[in-house]
This record gives sequence, C-alpha cells and structure tokens, in this order.
Amino acid sequence: MEVIEQASSMRAIVSALRCGGKRVGFVPTMGALHEGHLQLLRASARENDVTICSVFVNPTQFNNSSDYNLYPRTLEQDISLLQTVGCDYLFAPNAEDIYPQQSLLQFSFGELEAVMEGAHRPGHFNGVATIVSKLFHIVQPHKAYFGQKDLQQVAIVRQLVQALSFNLELVCHPTVREADGLAMSSRNKRLTTPQRQLATQLYKALQLAKRDLQQKPVAVIKSEVAHFLHHTDELELEYFEIVDPITLQPLRDVAGYKEVALCVAAFVGEVRLIDNMLVNLI
Ligand code: PAJ
Repeated sequence: MEVIEQASSMRAIVSALRCGGKRVGFVPTMGALHEGHLQLLRASARENDVTICSVFVNPTQFNNSSDYNLYPRTLEQDISLLQTVGCDYLFAPNAEDIYPQQSLLQFSFGELEAVMEGAHRPGHFNGVATIVSKLFHIVQPHKAYFGQKDLQQVAIVRQLVQALSFNLELVCHPTVREADGLAMSSRNKRLTTPQRQLATQLYKALQLAKRDLQQKPVAVIKSEVAHFLHHTDELELEYFEIVDPITLQPLRDVAGYKEVALCVAAFVGEVRLIDNMLVNLI
C-alpha cells in the first residue's frame, strides 16, 4: 500500500489508473479505523480493481472544538490495518493542502438537514458536504462506500451526488456492531469502562422500539425510549425519532410505511453517540 499526502499526487495517480481502465473504489474516513471501516474497505477491494482509503479528521464538520481536539488519531495503527484489507492507496492529506484558505462554501439540503444531526450539529453537514465534494474531485472514484451507521450522512451525500452530478455509485453498507450490540465507532475509544457498559443502552432502546412498533403509537414508543434511556447522569438522550428512511422526516404514525428508520443520539458522559435501525413493517 502506498501512502499519499499531496492532493496533486493523488489526482495524478487516479487519472493514470482510470486511463488504464481500472475501476476505483473509495472509502472516505476520519481514521481511528475499526471493523466498521474495515468491512467497507473489504467490500471495495472485492468490487473494484483499486481501493483508496482517505484518512482526514475534517475540521469543518466539527461543531465543537473539544470533540475535534479529542478525536482519536492513530495513523500508524490505521496503516497496519489497511494493509490487511486489500487497500492499495491511503490518501492522508494535511489540513493546509485541503483548506489553503478558510472555506466559505455554503450548501443547503432543505428539510433533510433540518432534523436530527442537522438540527443538533449546526454546520456539520455543510462541513461533510464540503470535504466529501473535495475528496470526490481528487479521488474520482467509480464507487464510494459509506456506512448506514451515519444514515443521515448517506442521505446528504446521495443528494450531493445528484445535485452536483458526480459520476459515481454510492454504496451503503450495514452497521457493524460489537458482540453486545453497540455500533462500532471511533468515539467508543473515549468511553471509560462503566460508560462503555452504559453505551449498550442505545442499541437496547432501538430493539425495544422495534418490538413495540406495530403495537403502540409513535408518541408512546418515544416516551418509552426516553424513559428507558433516562436513568443515570452519565446518559443523556438528545433525540429519538422514528423517520421515513429516505426523507428522514419524523413520523407521527407508521401506518402505510413498508420500512421506517429508528434513530437515536445520546451523550454517554462527554461522548456523543448515534445509532439507527431500519425496520421492515411488512
Ligand atoms: P468516519 O466516522 O471515520 O466514518 C467513515 C465511514 O465509515 C462512514 O461512511 C461511516 O458511516 C462508516 N462507519 C463508521 N462506523 C461504522 C459502523 N459501525 N458500521 C458501518 N460503517 C461504519 O463519516 C465520516 O468518517 C466522515 O463524516 C467522512 C464521511 C469521512 C467525511 O469527513
């Protein structure tokens, strides 16, 4: 595997690969790689001639400077892991190369960003859209791989690809979980042992909601989940929503829906975690 730091070098390599008829798969990440990332990379390695992973902790998508500063950075370990999953190039640029001056770009995603992560993390999706657009221009992939773990991010990127006519196929990979159900996340590394134990409540809350979805009204399920997740100072529910899986708009009633998404965000201590589950109602 080759490590590339300069955007101009990455562009030149990809242009040559594409001229040679190679199919390029791309997995954008912020590093601190775990099995969730590795499954995306394995899928890319299976489905493309060449796989590129990017590791860049993107400052413009953090709406909280302490979250940015504390975000785990484990590049040496990431390189070792990438070598085990068939990744051909690691693109690890520095912030000055990606943002030579402050980015003033403004994206608007309408209703899609007015809810959940968009509502609770102002500017977050603007930063995601900015970096993903830049990375797509530099890496020029045929296929780009994203995780369902960040369901709203997938919807935003889908809208971005359509709006800007990026010539690529998006692949959404199911969420990879720990044995006890906790969705894998780079932020899990920041949890203390008791917090790590408490974090499993998020998945349990989703399972509880799924179980009751066809028996109880949405409002009742929402208050059950709020009650279930509100029993210590260390766990603070930010939102739990039952949404349309495409538009991500919150539903008051699931009648007539074939599939819905259950989405949750909560602080465990200082660490903000999100999770979701797609539920088939047929
Ligand atoms: P990051 O959080 O590093 O995640 C990179 C990709 O891995 C995302 O598509 C994310 O949804 C996916 N992923 C993370 N945890 C996962 C899990 N448990 N199962 C399946 N997939 C998982 O998401 C970002 O970085 C950034 O916003 C980025 C797109 C790189 C832009 O900066």
